[in-house]
Amino acid sequence: MSDDMIFHVKPALAASAHVNASRAGLMGNHALNDPEPFWLEQARRLDWERAPQLAGGGGFGGDTRVSWFADGTLNASVNCLDRHLADRAAETALIWQGEDEDASRRVSFRELHEDVCRLANVLKSLGIERGDRVATYLPMVVEGVVAMLACARIGAVHVVMFAGLAAPGIAGRLRDSGAVLLITADEGRRGGKRLPLKAAADMALAELEADGAGQVRSVLVVAVTGSAVPMRPGRDRDYAALVRSADRACAPEVMAAEDPLLILYTSGSTGAPKGVLHTTAGYLLWASLTQAIVFDHRPGDVFWCTADLGWVTGHSYVVYGPLANGGTTLLFEGTPSWPSPGRWWREIDRHQVSGFYTAPTAIRSLMRDDPSALDATSRQSLRVLGSVGEPINPEAWLWYYGRVGGGRCPVVDTWWQTETGGIMIAPLPGAVAQKPGSATRPLPGVCPVLVGGDGQPLEGEAEGHLCLERSWPGQARTIWGDHDRYVQTYFSTYPGYYFSGDGARRDADGYYWITGRVDDVINVSGHRIGSAEVEAAFGSHDAVAESAVVGIPHDIKGQSLAAFVILKAGAAGRPGLEAELARHVGQELGRYAAPDLVVLTDDLPKTRSGKIMRRILRKIATGEHDELGDVSTLADPTVVGALIEKLRR
Ligand code: PRX
Repeated sequence: MSDDMIFHVKPALAASAHVNASRAGLMGNHALNDPEPFWLEQARRLDWERAPQLAGGGGFGGDTRVSWFADGTLNASVNCLDRHLADRAAETALIWQGEDEDASRRVSFRELHEDVCRLANVLKSLGIERGDRVATYLPMVVEGVVAMLACARIGAVHVVMFAGLAAPGIAGRLRDSGAVLLITADEGRRGGKRLPLKAAADMALAELEADGAGQVRSVLVVAVTGSAVPMRPGRDRDYAALVRSADRACAPEVMAAEDPLLILYTSGSTGAPKGVLHTTAGYLLWASLTQAIVFDHRPGDVFWCTADLGWVTGHSYVVYGPLANGGTTLLFEGTPSWPSPGRWWREIDRHQVSGFYTAPTAIRSLMRDDPSALDATSRQSLRVLGSVGEPINPEAWLWYYGRVGGGRCPVVDTWWQTETGGIMIAPLPGAVAQKPGSATRPLPGVCPVLVGGDGQPLEGEAEGHLCLERSWPGQARTIWGDHDRYVQTYFSTYPGYYFSGDGARRDADGYYWITGRVDDVINVSGHRIGSAEVEAAFGSHDAVAESAVVGIPHDIKGQSLAAFVILKAGAAGRPGLEAELARHVGQELGRYAAPDLVVLTDDLPKTRSGKIMRRILRKIATGEHDELGDVSTLADPTVVGALIEKLRR
């Protein structure tokens, strides 16, 4: 091992973990040399209606049609619920912890099964069939999990939308997915405030109707706060009233392994967010396998992934992974420091959490809280700590390890993406020593490749673009409605490889250090935002002619958005216009996507062919004026000086 800071595997963990170093080596070799039997063996962790005889996979050439376990049949909700009923029906499947510290609810596997069956029957009674898309726009409430599993039970495809999205984003997703039913709530709660979810959903639905795309036939409304909201007769229905009177048994649909399970929208470097499609068996296997081995899952574990259900991390590690493994999953409605610092740590003690999984942005912000809030809790129940969503800086890693975990718990820095379905590169806690800041090594069966500027794979110590060489079961199969875009986005940059959009370095020990996106995707607090989307949102404001959006480093969020905006001729700048424009973007996309910096300008640095030089804008926004590089190729190099001057003022 090199001399980087290293945290070796603790002997007790090496002895007891599911996967120790020798097993990890065996698994890796088996996957590499004999993939068919290796993957068929892994697939046995699922309950199949008909077990597959084929593993499959597929190459990354031509049309890139990936398929796994294609002759197998199963149902994802059966894997998360029914199969646990024999042994642990009365055990807790889900703990819901409300924002109010006194509000919590434990839901057993039997109860969750019953809730899911009831809603599945309601959906069927409303005409939902296999393959139909059902969207949700819900806060972190039990019904969010029930809705996903009820869709899976009847073969409907769920489209979960983050409750922080604004109406245009909801409308876009409903339209693109062709969802026919929406499940939403009257309101959500956040930091003592209320979020008007039904109102936002109504605005989105009105937008669709105005466009003649009124395909959403039914809206089920969960009463979260109980406040009165307008209900349109014939379309809107009270969720609770319907499920109360529904039958509590519902035979699961037998699904083919490759039948779609879910569509999840995520941002890319161009265009509108794309609907990433995951299929039933491969996705479920990947969520379950990775949750088990990366977090060293044990019976009775309480797993807390803090991600919202609306992101892939919530899908894989709040719902499918832990429940498929028969663990207890914690669903937390609140925020880390509300009503007072230390809230998360108190929840860890209250619910005896063993696996805790969060994002570096949260860790960095919690490091700034008064330390007494942390010291007032024990956190003795913790066994493994996870990090996801963005590179974790060593300082935050060390605080997480030393202060939160008391130096007892391995920190697993997990690299993956919406498109990978689950974790790809991470230290198996009983097998791989950790280096703060490195996602370490690929999981068995995962084959990362670093590609250099000339498109060739690099060997040994190297830095390049992070690609994957072989298919894995959790791989997204397509972009909903646009397979060409799928092929174009992921497989055309480096033929024969899946290109992640990330850069990475591999050190002498074969450890991977993710350096961040190399495309125009910006990672703000672990949320993926496309610069093109934000620019389109600016463009929808009356005063804006053109804009360019870049990501710049931010102490807590990792990156924040800086926008350079050209106003339309005649739209004079006025005091407060910058803030108004930032608010406008928030209203279009959701508050999380509002830029921190808006600079009005007369011009943008462009090449002679009209391409905006974002690299230069980033340097201007961060004040690194000495590192602007060659600006002589710009159509008008004086733009740079004018912008620097503007930011000085
Ligand atoms: O840039 C990488 C970053 O998050 C991107 C994927 O975002 P999303 O699809 O929203 O999924 C987030 C949850 C998996 C990646 O392209 N990313 C994710 N995990 C890490 C990371 N960057 C560095 N280190 C990580 N552990």
